[in-house]
Amino acid sequence: MTTAAGNTHRISVIAGDGIGLEVMPAAIGCLDAVADAHGFAFDWIERDWGSDYFFRTGRMLPVDGLEQLATTDAVFLGAVGHPDLSDVETLWGLLIPIRRTFSQYINLRPVKTLPGVRPVLADPTPIDLMIVRENNEGEYSEVGGRVYRGLANEMAVQEAVFTRVGITRAARFAAELASTRRGKVTSATKSNGIIHSMPFWDEVVRETLAGYPEVELRSELIDALAASLVLHPWRYDVIVASNLFGDILSDLAGAATGSIGSLASANLNPEGQHPSMFEPVHGSAPDIAGTGVANPIGQIWSGALMLDALGRPAAAAHLVAAFESALADGVRTRDLGGTASTTELADAVTDRVVQLAPDYLETNEGAMRP
Ligand code: NAI
Ligand code: MG
Repeated sequence: MTTAAGNTHRISVIAGDGIGLEVMPAAIGCLDAVADAHGFAFDWIERDWGSDYFFRTGRMLPVDGLEQLATTDAVFLGAVGHPDLSDVETLWGLLIPIRRTFSQYINLRPVKTLPGVRPVLADPTPIDLMIVRENNEGEYSEVGGRVYRGLANEMAVQEAVFTRVGITRAARFAAELASTRRGKVTSATKSNGIIHSMPFWDEVVRETLAGYPEVELRSELIDALAASLVLHPWRYDVIVASNLFGDILSDLAGAATGSIGSLASANLNPEGQHPSMFEPVHGSAPDIAGTGVANPIGQIWSGALMLDALGRPAAAAHLVAAFESALADGVRTRDLGGTASTTELADAVTDRVVQLAPDYLETNEGAMRP
């Protein structure tokens, strides 16, 4: 990964399908503006991979696609998914190979109340939490099989895979992140029902957190935690969860803050040995694709997470402040209760990047946050 010492970040861009093709250029415009303000640049290397590529070639990405990505500093992804293509193809043909080949073992999702967005929960206390989802193993494994297809005794077995290394590094990331925030880690578990892997998860999380005495650890059963996230999400700081639990909890917590269109995620290889990937949480939204109304905030916020990981925390904070300011001023897309188009909201963010620049210019960019 290029550090702040380099002045140009080479980024692989996979806009993908549907609204990915609309929110990606919107976010790139905002990122170029913030880079310009901070005296660095992006070299965007666009790749036309996704469902159309699949219809032409039978593959989601070229044979040497992962090698091409490996030569760049990060991957910026829009969304993939097409009504005429199985989601198994898009997921296992593109997203999962990138996450696993590049050991992007952390899926980080910020969940935060945004200004000007009508609250979903009755109690409007602001939400500000981070979900650290284990991203390489757990319930999403290839181990298993299906037998007696089509017969009455047909069956399927799918094994969950939990390793000491995998759990430890997720727990460590969560602890380090919490120590830069409010110092609380909640671990999602189900050790009362899933009696082999989840007690192991609990043990390894506890052992790892013992190395962070300043961080408070609580384990909560996933069902109770889901309910609690609806009732009082503001109590949580950092939640660490397995691949499946983290996937579900992050959509749930995200929904509590407003539109899925605003949610961002980072697939991180924290050591920087491989490129990390940044993508909004939403999919290709075929129901609104091509109409210019998609909310670009999820893509822009993912770009801010990318800035952080590239060692540009001041630029990241600047970009977040810019979109928060645009939303606070009432520039909102339809999903947020407004009338702005994708480009109107992105242009408003770019304007605020320029306006807020004096507050965010720093010569000393810090290192990547954990
Ligand atoms: P979706 O996230 O694409 O859409 C769900 C609903 O939210 C739709 O009503 C959509 O209009 C709305 N929505 C989503 N993003 C929005 C935005 N930025 N602004 C305004 N409204 C927005 O999920 P869905 O419909 O389940 O999946 C559609 C396709 O996307 C499928 O092929 C699915 O596999 C794929 N998908 C891809 C993901 C990825 O690339 N990581 C993640 C989720 C779904
Ligand atoms: Mg999901």
